[in-house]
Amino acid sequence: MMPSAQQQHERATSEIRRRFGAWLIAGSLAVATGLSALSLGTPTMRAAVATETDAVSYNRLLGRGMNLGNALDAPKEGAWGITLAPGYFSAIKEAGFNSVRVPIRWSAHAGNEPPYTIEPAFFARVDWAVEQALSRGLVAIINVHHNDEIHRDPATGIPRLVALWKQIAAHYRSQPERLYFELLNEPHDQLTDERWQAAIPELLQAVRDSNPDRVVIIGPGNWNDAAHLPALRLPSSDPRLIVTFHYYKPFPFTHQGSPAVRDSGRWRGTVWNGTSEERAQLRNDFDAAAAWAERNHRPLFLGEFGARRDADMTSRASWTRAVAREAERRGFSWAYWEFGSDFGAYDLAARSWHAPLLQALMDRP
Ligand code: BGC
Repeated sequence: MMPSAQQQHERATSEIRRRFGAWLIAGSLAVATGLSALSLGTPTMRAAVATETDAVSYNRLLGRGMNLGNALDAPKEGAWGITLAPGYFSAIKEAGFNSVRVPIRWSAHAGNEPPYTIEPAFFARVDWAVEQALSRGLVAIINVHHNDEIHRDPATGIPRLVALWKQIAAHYRSQPERLYFELLNEPHDQLTDERWQAAIPELLQAVRDSNPDRVVIIGPGNWNDAAHLPALRLPSSDPRLIVTFHYYKPFPFTHQGSPAVRDSGRWRGTVWNGTSEERAQLRNDFDAAAAWAERNHRPLFLGEFGARRDADMTSRASWTRAVAREAERRGFSWAYWEFGSDFGAYDLAARSWHAPLLQALMDRP
C-alpha cells in the first residue's frame, strides 16, 4: 500500500537525507580508522567472551524477528495500510521467527500536557498485540516510535517521554519476561548523541522503578547508527540491557523509490549483486559494531534492516540473506523491517510470504 500524503509529509525528507549522509560518513570513517582490518576471531570465540552477562541469553531469545511496522506506529492504526490481525502473528510464528518488534506511536495517544496520560483504549490495543505475540511463544518488543517532538525539541520531548515510560512500564510490570522494552526508535536531529546520552539515565530509571529486571533495549544516536555506538555509555550497574542498531546500507539500494526520500526515484534500478566490495563493506560495518559490543560487554540486536519493494527481488533477497547471515555470525539477533508494507516480506493481499525473502531470512536455499 502506498504511503498516504500525510505519511510522506511526516517522513521528512531532510531527516532521511541526513541518514543518507550518515551512510557516506560512516563508510569513510570505518575505512579511515582501519576498522576493516580488525580481527575479531571466530564466531565461537566471540560467543565465549559474550556469555559474561545474561543479557546475551535474552538476546539469543530474540533470535530471528519481524517488525510489525506501519501499524501501531502510524498516526492512527490503519492509516498506513496495516491493521494488526491475529493471522499475522500466526504467520510469523509458523514461518519460524522467534520474536516480533511492535513499533508504537504512544505520543499520538497521550495528553500533550502533564501528566501526559495515555488513552486507556490505546493501552488495550497494545495489550492485545502483546498477548497475540506472547501467547504464541514469541518474544515481544514494544518501543516508542515516531515520537516526533523529541527529535525537534528535546527540552519538551524528554520529560514527556519519561512520563510515557513511567506509565508504560507500570502498566506492563506483571507481564512475562518475554516482553522487552525499547526506549526510543532512532534518536536524531536535535536529539544529538550528547542530549540522548543525557536522557538515558532518567528514562531507564522510569522503567526500573517498576520493572527492575525487565530487558531494556537502547540504541545509539543518528538513527541508531552503529557508527555512533562509541558515543553510547550505559550504566555498568545495569546488566539487563541489549544494544540495538539499524542497517540500511547502501541507502540508495534499500531506499530506492521511497516517497519519503527526495529524488530517490533516481535510484530506481540500483541492484545489489553481492560483489566482493559490497560484501566487504557489510562485513566491515558489522565487524566495527561487534568490536564495540565486545569491548563494552553488551549483546547487539540488529533491530531493523530491509530493502524497499521498488528494488528487484533478486537483489533484495541476496542483500537480506547476506545481512542476516553476517549478523548471525557475530551473535547479533535481528528483526527484519518489515512485515507487510513497502519493505514487506509478506504479501498481505495474497496472504503469503514473498518466498525469496522468507528463504533468505530463514537461511533456506
Ligand atoms: C521508520 C520507518 C521507515 C524505516 C525505513 C523506520 O525506522 O520508522 O518509517 O520506513 O525506518 O526507512
